[in-house]
Amino acid sequence: MRTVWPPATKIAAQRRILIAGNWKMNGLRADGVRLACNLAERARINDVACELLLCPPATLLSLVGAAIVGSGIQLGGQDCHPAAAGPFTGSISAEMLRDAGCTHVIIGHSERRSAYGESDADVQAKTAAAWRAGLTAIVCVGETREERVSGRTIEAIIRQVSRSVPDGATADNLVIAYEPVWAIGSGQLPKHGEIGEAHAAIAANIPPATRILYGGSVNARNALDILRITDVGGALVGSASLCADDFWAVAKTFPPPIH
Ligand code: PGA
Repeated sequence: MRTVWPPATKIAAQRRILIAGNWKMNGLRADGVRLACNLAERARINDVACELLLCPPATLLSLVGAAIVGSGIQLGGQDCHPAAAGPFTGSISAEMLRDAGCTHVIIGHSERRSAYGESDADVQAKTAAAWRAGLTAIVCVGETREERVSGRTIEAIIRQVSRSVPDGATADNLVIAYEPVWAIGSGQLPKHGEIGEAHAAIAANIPPATRILYGGSVNARNALDILRITDVGGALVGSASLCADDFWAVAKTFPPPIH
């Protein structure tokens, strides 16, 4: 029988909306398991229209992976090293993430770009590593407040996309997360027209149908309006992903298709 999508799901009709939770450096084992079990339980008994992805800290990957078995929720890392293995104390390779049950890895988050000095070249090398290990890379780009104020938003994000994404990108191995640096954790958002403009510019520079997530202060109250913007293929959610009710509310923004 024909699937009837609600009108707003223009991207979802081609490729499902992806709602990814970036837990950052949050959660001890008991918290992480509780949160993952809660979400997995809801996903098992409810029909969700979107794809769901949890990106917990590395110490919780195995536990969260076990908690979400059979729920349809996917698992992702928050960073990877370009090499497969070797003398890189403190680092985790894409192969290790894959071995821990990950399907995705976030690469080049602005917190890593600013706090660890990661360059576009580093992000490109890590993205190639993710692909080598069979992971989908979620490559983050976004302008600083200074770039925005000086009218260089589009220039900055297109420069990051072109330098951070290696040759060989496809709609299956790549997701872009557009995260204005100044919007992360601040409660501030660009105007909807500005999000649309940024996503359209990115879409023109990556393979057709590649999902572009918006990230930066997404919550249950603003998610629907953001996800309705043309070329927005999902959301990368930070602080609101740490509360099961809040993350679930974002996930339920779009009702499942009517069969
Ligand atoms: P936020 O974080 O939702 O807390 O703004 C988003 C992110 O950094 O990925």
